[in-house]
Amino acid sequence: MKSRAFGNTDLTVTPFGLGLAALGRPGYINLGHAADLDQDYSIKEMQARAFKVLDTAWEAGIRYFDAARSYGRAEEFLGNWLRARNISSTEVTIGSKWGYTYTADWQVDADVHEVKEHSLAVLQRQIKETRANLGDYLDLYQIHSATQASGVLENQAVLLALACLRDAGLKIGLSLSGEGQAATLVQALEIEFDGRPLFASVQATWNLLERSAGETLAAAHDAGLGVIVKEAVANGRLTPRNQRPEFAKKRAVLTEIAQELDTTIDALALAAVLAQPWVDVVLSGVATTEHLASNLKALDINWNAELEDRLSGLVETPKEYWGIRSELDWN
Ligand SMILES: NC(=O)c1ccc[n+]([C@@H]2O[C@H](COP(=O)([O-])OP(=O)(O)OC[C@H]3O[C@@H](n4cnc5c(N)ncnc54)[C@H](OP(=O)(O)O)[C@@H]3O)[C@@H](O)[C@H]2O)c1
Repeated sequence: MKSRAFGNTDLTVTPFGLGLAALGRPGYINLGHAADLDQDYSIKEMQARAFKVLDTAWEAGIRYFDAARSYGRAEEFLGNWLRARNISSTEVTIGSKWGYTYTADWQVDADVHEVKEHSLAVLQRQIKETRANLGDYLDLYQIHSATQASGVLENQAVLLALACLRDAGLKIGLSLSGEGQAATLVQALEIEFDGRPLFASVQATWNLLERSAGETLAAAHDAGLGVIVKEAVANGRLTPRNQRPEFAKKRAVLTEIAQELDTTIDALALAAVLAQPWVDVVLSGVATTEHLASNLKALDINWNAELEDRLSGLVETPKEYWGIRSELDWN
């Protein structure tokens, strides 16, 4: 997989990245997550599973890896893997996120899995925790799910602390979430310190069902930000696993085209993301090597106007998309 520049930064990334949201903790919202983990939640087994997927990603040429404080032991597993494989920090680009605290205590049926707080105290605590796990491997530190409601983009103390981390060599980014992704990004693009943009990258949801942030992400890319796309298969809804009756019509369209192209539904959805000129990295969020192999078939698909036309009808309103996402069970 060919490396490419990441926005105006001196970092390089690959078209595919691997996200560890489903690999670092027993519980997550993705469809069928529990089945993937064979309900074996021993830390030893979870780390071994993560190492297997990380090794397969590395062999496939993936060189961007995405973690977060709230993904349970994802940072720890990623750090242990990088050291165990003697990977030099110059060979890989590592991103993590702060702002959500993991509260599930390794339980799948926890009442509260994560708590969001974009405060200076949380930033100062979590950067130490992230450094303890990832050390000098850490390249990019992102606000986790910044929204206008969280107020973080008006919190001068936090923004100043992020500017200090920037000046100390870390790239600062933000991830977005919800119906207001575009509006939050517009606000973030205006934030500067010492005449330089604070944010070097943005991570956002964009897929065949939720395209609403596309224009603003293109503007961010033009402004020199690195753009990372998450939830490219809509937490499993754009995969063969989505057998929901209300999705049958859309699944039929996806299945027909996937069969014509001798590929998979998830690869088709990921190819749509890779085809956007403003995308630097699309994250695969898999927990199994089989699903990673299926995702990577997207690299063999030549996206064209006919595919764009035949799949444009899958789009949902942001209200519908985020409504359905908020109902996905932690499993
Ligand atoms: N706010 C934020 O900053 C935020 C939010 C969400 C995600 N992210 C980042 O984005 C990454 C990816 O997002 P995501 O995992 O939430 O969503 P996603 O990539 O849209 O969905 C991943 C899910 O799809 C399933 N899947 C993929 N290929 C499949 C196949 N061929 N057959 C069946 N199932 C398949 C995976 O199942 P298996 O688990 O069985 O492989 C996994 O459960 C995360 O790891 C994280 O790094 C960031």
